[in-house]
Amino acid sequence: MKTFRIAVLPGDGIGPEVMQEAGKVLDVVAERAAVRFERTEGLVGGISYDTYGTPLTDAVLQMAAQSDAVLLGAMGGPKWEPLDYSVRPERGLLGLRAGLGLFANLRPVRVFDDLIDASPLRPEIIRGIDLVIVRELTGDVYFGEPRGVRVEKGERIGVNTMIYSETEIRRIAKVGFELARKRRKKLLSVDKANVLETTELWRTVTTEVGRDYPDVELSHMYVDNCAMQLIRNPGQFDVIVTTNLFGDILSDEASMLTGSMGMLPSASQGEKTAMYEPIHGSAPDIAGKNLANPIAMILSTAMMLRLSLGMATEADLVEKAVREVLKAGFRTGDIRQPGTTVVGTAEMGDRIARQVGALMA
Ligand code: IPM
Ligand code: MG
Repeated sequence: MKTFRIAVLPGDGIGPEVMQEAGKVLDVVAERAAVRFERTEGLVGGISYDTYGTPLTDAVLQMAAQSDAVLLGAMGGPKWEPLDYSVRPERGLLGLRAGLGLFANLRPVRVFDDLIDASPLRPEIIRGIDLVIVRELTGDVYFGEPRGVRVEKGERIGVNTMIYSETEIRRIAKVGFELARKRRKKLLSVDKANVLETTELWRTVTTEVGRDYPDVELSHMYVDNCAMQLIRNPGQFDVIVTTNLFGDILSDEASMLTGSMGMLPSASQGEKTAMYEPIHGSAPDIAGKNLANPIAMILSTAMMLRLSLGMATEADLVEKAVREVLKAGFRTGDIRQPGTTVVGTAEMGDRIARQVGALMA
């Protein structure tokens, strides 16, 4: 029987709850497709800090690197906020990204027809939205040196460094162009080239890479304008490629087109093992209450099936099952609307898993 090794890193807050539901879906897919998902769990984030004194151990990083794919829940919470930066749960996430070389983060934003009224934006603005943000993930101010807070002439000075080499820009630009080629052949590169030299280089190199993709129409936009256009007319976008920090901000903004952060999956790719995680955080305020929306985690699992395990048909069916459960009127609290049935995390997961089973029967 075909066996895939999956590193399962539930993390903190709602991470373990939503991961549990993704597990139900994987169980059904395994049974119906006659494959084996050999899952190894590891602690990451705050819970790893509490247990081992570090948010990411070498053992977990190695286990992840040796897997066919990594599923990640979420990390962090107020409990660990007083900690020094070097051991904060977020460092665990950044450590995984850097350690696995995951430089390309794909964040698809798709508006489900049945959720059109869950968005704060008007239906005519968001109907049919289907865009992907390609976020660079291992560079920029996130990793740039020097960094830190120091004292100079009696006052504190904070420093972070926005830095990109042309190699880094070229490889992420290629990911954007390749993806655009498979879609509507339009790539938008987002920068702040009017002010920041680093992103002026970004624009130059992206344009150079574009010469190898004459079939893809490349355009550029400043990040502030893009933030505005995402709300004004998101239908104009197909593939957006941008820097680590801009991508972080724009993807949270774009998630609200869908009505909730609880709906957005993501894939992080590098040279080897890829990692799949919801874009939402650990939501400590609702953790352990059976309130979290497991759909982003389940859709991340579908991305894993498609992009890492060669199971595109199964991935399509998982996404279809999600649509059908929404169509049948079931909602978690974050996407509740009048006339729908509000269910908890576990019931949402059960319903989707059952629907996957029915579709794969
Ligand atoms: C994300 C998150 C992370 C980031 C945090 C938790 C470090 O916001 O994945 O978008 O900033 O990259
Ligand atoms: Mg973010």
